[in-house]
Amino acid sequence: MKYAIEFKHETLRVVDQTLLPARYKEIEIKTLAAAWNAIKTLKVRGAPLIGVFAAYSVWVGIRNVNTASHESLRKKIDSVIDYLRTSRPTAVNLFWALERVRETVKTSKITSVPSLKKLVLDEAKRIDAEDKELCRLMGEHGVKLFKPGDRILTHCNTGFLATAGDGTALSVIYEAARRYKKVKVYSDETRPLLQGSRLTVWELMRRKVDVTQICDNTAGYLMQKGMIDRAIVGADRITANGGVANKIGTYTVAVLCYTHGIPFYVAAPSTTFDLKIEDISQIPIEERSSDEVCSVFGARIAPEGANALNYAFDTTPPELITAIITEKGVIRPPYKKNIAKIIGK
Ligand code: MRU
Repeated sequence: MKYAIEFKHETLRVVDQTLLPARYKEIEIKTLAAAWNAIKTLKVRGAPLIGVFAAYSVWVGIRNVNTASHESLRKKIDSVIDYLRTSRPTAVNLFWALERVRETVKTSKITSVPSLKKLVLDEAKRIDAEDKELCRLMGEHGVKLFKPGDRILTHCNTGFLATAGDGTALSVIYEAARRYKKVKVYSDETRPLLQGSRLTVWELMRRKVDVTQICDNTAGYLMQKGMIDRAIVGADRITANGGVANKIGTYTVAVLCYTHGIPFYVAAPSTTFDLKIEDISQIPIEERSSDEVCSVFGARIAPEGANALNYAFDTTPPELITAIITEKGVIRPPYKKNIAKIIGK
């Protein structure tokens, strides 16, 4: 499979990302429950990919519905969408994609059950194809901010495992590597689930991009030593005034960049913007099980019975962000005005 998700011959397949890098395994998603579980357990993850996958999952949830009535199928579609909305709370792409499918069904006059099912599948395919193009465009716009020889810090995973295409922040890095050859990437390991070391390092090595893994707490020292020229991350939700929710630890990177005068970029498609929200404090932040922090690959690293706080995401205020790279171009401060102009259209 070229990407993390594939729809072919009426079959939805994904790479089980919980097993990487030890094992590359593709799994078929046959039921709605399996789809919900794949999102919840991070087999499928990354904001744009969750959206694309959820759209296909609506079709998985209705394809075997046995009814002759389009009204009852429409009700079922609504309930499948409502159910998938409960899988994870922070990445707005999930809700964006599901509501787009809901709206397509609602506004269609189709009365044939097979045609309504096809309508859902076609919309998912369109969302998939569009996301690939959004990734490409982010790469094209973002690369203009980079220079040959740049030493780039990134956090979490934002590449072909996190989108339907080449990625958000990693799409920019891939484009910089293609054009300038000599870029060097430092990848934060990204505790607790290690998306940086397990997924980003794996991806970049596969694409032959120079990458060095660091512990999350090493980034500040590298900046102090002058070893980082710029940082780039993705986003799970961006507010109307340019505040960003992204993987826990992103805010720390942004503060470090600010302190050291290093540009801090966010790359995200317009599907990651939530223009209904003004302030980062309004973004729902997922809290996950304390076991994810107290254990690594099943082995306890904290005493039995220890408790841990496990916020999956944090929020970065707009003042710390140098620019936001989107498929529509690079957005700079003042964000409220420029986001309304570029994304709000
Ligand atoms: O919990 P995850 O692995 O789904 O979190 C993913 C991230 O935080 C990414 O940085 C984000 O989705 C940005 S873009 C692909």
